[in-house]
Amino acid sequence: MPTTATTTPLLLLLLLLLTTTTSSSPILGLDSYLAQQSRQDPQATNDTFLTLPTSLKKSLSSPFPLPSIPSLTSSLLSFSVPLSLHIRLVGTFPPNSPSLLSSFLSSASQPLHHFHVISPFHPPFHSLSIQHTPHFDIAFSPPSLTSTLSESLSSQISKSPSSLRSSLLSIPFSSIDSIVSSDFRSENEHENRDGIFIYLINLGPQSKPYAYSYSDSDSSAGFTDCLGTIHASKNRYLWIDLAAGPVDYGPALSGDGVLPRGEFHPLAAFHSRQKSQKSLLADVSSLIWSAYQVLLVPSLRIPVPFENSLLVQFIHVRSGSARDSSSDALDWKKIERALSEDGGLLLRDQTLRFKNYEILSDSGQAFRSEAEMPVDNDFGRVLPVYVFDLDYNNHLLLDRYHQSVAFKDMVIAVRTRNTQTVSDYTCNGRHMFTQTRSLERPLVGSILQSMWGVSPTHLLWSPRHNSTLVDYTWSVGQTPFGPFSESLSLSFVQKDAAKRSVLLTMMNYSITSAIDFLEAIAEHGGDRKLLKQNQHLVFEQRWTLFKYKLDKAVSALSHLDFEMALYYLKSSDHDLRFASSLLCLFKKRQTVQKLVRGQKLVTYQKEILCDDGDELMMINM
Ligand SMILES: *[C@@H]1O[C@H](CO)[C@@H](O)[C@H](O)[C@H]1NC(C)=O
Ligand SMILES: *[C@@H]1O[C@H](CO)[C@@H](O)[C@H](O)[C@H]1NC(C)=O
Ligand SMILES: *[C@@H]1O[C@H](CO)[C@@H](O)[C@H](O)[C@H]1NC(C)=O
Repeated sequence: MPTTATTTPLLLLLLLLLTTTTSSSPILGLDSYLAQQSRQDPQATNDTFLTLPTSLKKSLSSPFPLPSIPSLTSSLLSFSVPLSLHIRLVGTFPPNSPSLLSSFLSSASQPLHHFHVISPFHPPFHSLSIQHTPHFDIAFSPPSLTSTLSESLSSQISKSPSSLRSSLLSIPFSSIDSIVSSDFRSENEHENRDGIFIYLINLGPQSKPYAYSYSDSDSSAGFTDCLGTIHASKNRYLWIDLAAGPVDYGPALSGDGVLPRGEFHPLAAFHSRQKSQKSLLADVSSLIWSAYQVLLVPSLRIPVPFENSLLVQFIHVRSGSARDSSSDALDWKKIERALSEDGGLLLRDQTLRFKNYEILSDSGQAFRSEAEMPVDNDFGRVLPVYVFDLDYNNHLLLDRYHQSVAFKDMVIAVRTRNTQTVSDYTCNGRHMFTQTRSLERPLVGSILQSMWGVSPTHLLWSPRHNSTLVDYTWSVGQTPFGPFSESLSLSFVQKDAAKRSVLLTMMNYSITSAIDFLEAIAEHGGDRKLLKQNQHLVFEQRWTLFKYKLDKAVSALSHLDFEMALYYLKSSDHDLRFASSLLCLFKKRQTVQKLVRGQKLVTYQKEILCDDGDELMMINM
């Protein structure tokens, strides 16, 4: 009968679909069991599989056969972290803005993008195997927010004195930020949204052109007071005043990071009179897309492993003749405060310590190493920060651009007697000065890169260009990076990136190990062939649990719940360790079989050198 002929393949297809989706669909009771474990054993010291109630263990194996090894591998390579961006339009925008922006942005976000690493290690791949999917929620803000902001802005404009040095009035950023901040708080109180907020503000033309100043109002420094039109907060929001400016900042002449200037930069979209509404919104959507890439899914500077205890060693190397000068001091405490504020860079149970060392090298005498070099073995990760204070009058740069350079496992900085120099960067038409004796901020930036894998706000790995892009758009205001800001405090961007780098590195490592394991199984003849029935059952249950925990970690990352992601990743390590001990078991068995056939032991000794975890006892050979 024709009907049966068509239903059978359909049924098969349905079964197939069911089989492949079972691993990611919720398993009744498992969620609450793992949630309970995460509270009792937040460090995931215990293997959850061993205490799992029998009924839950049963539900980890399905009546259908486990998918083939290639499909298990591809399921490991298809994790994608959904991330939410809430866009709030404040002030005057065309009524169809939300839908137009949505359609521009959805085409930008296709196909899926991977998380990237700027400096990869061997092999030279810049992509992590984890992807991300943006979700844009675009809405108008209530008119009350617009009117409060307008009032505050016009009162600031009327009381700010004009400056001879700049055509832009300088308005303290806090006059806008205090209002946006309270809106952000109330949005989150009521709905407790995940993700980050971007406020796009257009309050229309004002009596005078203006931009925002980020330094304290009575800042005596003021050398690099580069005005901007954006602000990234400590909380998870950013605002952009599209009617402010236009501002211009970047390299003075040529080189990396020279971007469309003036009215051609999307930040200045609202200053261009010729633009149609559509091209205006296209500019705004490119701004949002850029913010998504830099603020929410920034490239990792380097991959960073998780360690419980972190140590930064400050090693100040000074030439002897300068030793009495009090101006030689470096304010280490300032660096420590910037990096420890609110514990914002650390995951739970991580500790951060600082130690100071001073090395005097008498003039003419070679720099004595060994004896004076600190050794700290009790720390998981130690980052030495060398500062060379040279008795030399000219300004000295380490790599043409920087006084402080971040390496994979150390930071090196150099300082001379020189106090101030004109840099290669301009802001709003003026050359920027660099205070070359104040190394604190460059050091904070370098330490963030080497210890936490946080990328500077102006660097992004671009797979399309197969190189690192330099873009200073987000490098004014609250960022510890780049020449256009004096800020030593960190925004949500750096705090989140520090934790995310560690978690993504961990997860990528788990995925890589699991794939290696699967490949080894395939090489040895496949799971069905290698494992006896009861072993295979345990293998399948372990596998399902492992995959389940990675799914949970992805979901926690998506909600920016980094502690929970850490728990699930640590917990999944137990299941992975089990897998590798299982592989060891195969190898042993093979070795034994080969030995029985009269071959020499030495040939195989290397193979049987692997850990015997407790887990091994669970299976009988
Ligand atoms: C780990 O398991 C052991 C034995 O079951 C138990 O005594 C201990 O309290 C557990 N540790 C934590 C942190 O839950
Ligand atoms: C990217 O650049 C590197 C070195 O610059 C080169 O070795 C590699 O082949 C390039 N990759 C692609 C996909 O073009
Ligand atoms: C991330 O995982 C992929 C796939 O397993 C691997 O090829 C790559 O080398 C890993 N990258 C890092 C930085 O660990």
